Amino acid sequence: MTGKMKLVRTKEELRTLRRKWIFSGEKVAVVPTMGALHAGHLSLVEAAKKGADRVIVTIFVNPRQFNNPDDLDKYPRTEDDDAVKLAPYGIDALYVPTPDQIYPQGFATNVSVSGVTEELEGAHRPGHFDGVATVVSKLFLQSRADVAYFGEKDYQQLQVVTRLSEDLDIETEVVGCPTVREEDGLAMSSRNVLLSHSARAIAPAMYRAMQAAARGIRGGTPVDVALEEARAAILAAGYTDVEYIELRSATGLKPATDLSDPTRILSAAMLDGVRLIDNVAV
Ligand code: PAF
Repeated sequence: MTGKMKLVRTKEELRTLRRKWIFSGEKVAVVPTMGALHAGHLSLVEAAKKGADRVIVTIFVNPRQFNNPDDLDKYPRTEDDDAVKLAPYGIDALYVPTPDQIYPQGFATNVSVSGVTEELEGAHRPGHFDGVATVVSKLFLQSRADVAYFGEKDYQQLQVVTRLSEDLDIETEVVGCPTVREEDGLAMSSRNVLLSHSARAIAPAMYRAMQAAARGIRGGTPVDVALEEARAAILAAGYTDVEYIELRSATGLKPATDLSDPTRILSAAMLDGVRLIDNVAV
């Protein structure tokens, strides 16, 4: 079933592979990434291997989803290492498109999902979700995958891509996979490598504070009190800013004040000039 991983740079090559696979009735999965692969990405690759006959991993650092040019410059790019990390998984194709394969000259289309994009990350990173929605639509259509795997770490993004796939009748089923954490609880993220040694030691404080808030809310602490305590704990640990920490419905991300429906706490905070996000189920 799995030969050698093919490095694909153009959408034409990808289409040719995809046609062959459709012809032989094989189910195709795509795992979209921006590279700098870590165990979280590799867990998505494992899920894709279990769920489909053919697996495409994509690596494209998408300029349109960075609202801050510094953030784009700093974003780690490690394509050779990424290919080495993927080798043991026996994936079929590593699609690393050049920018013109995604945004050819004259490209003038923007995919914009309303509602779920408007708050949380959307409020703090203007244009971010348009960039994500546009590139993910392109990757779905270029790969014509039957199924796509995304991490719950970017929980709002997962909601956005689920929405766009349904709304645009794209026949790619979106599957969310649990966040993978370091031993000390820090959610795996490509941005973690940007943290200094001392900041790395502080970083898990956000997850600990969110877990404590979730326990408190489950135990009857009023939501605003639990979240305020969590915010204070994150700042006391050494984070410089908490952009948001909120309780939201698990589907649709509507503000929540009780546990009548499944909820999640979502947070974004700055540490050592690095913006970290996380979320936990309550
Ligand atoms: O989660 C990411 O790495 C990116 O937002 C994605 C989904 C690959 C789109 O560029």
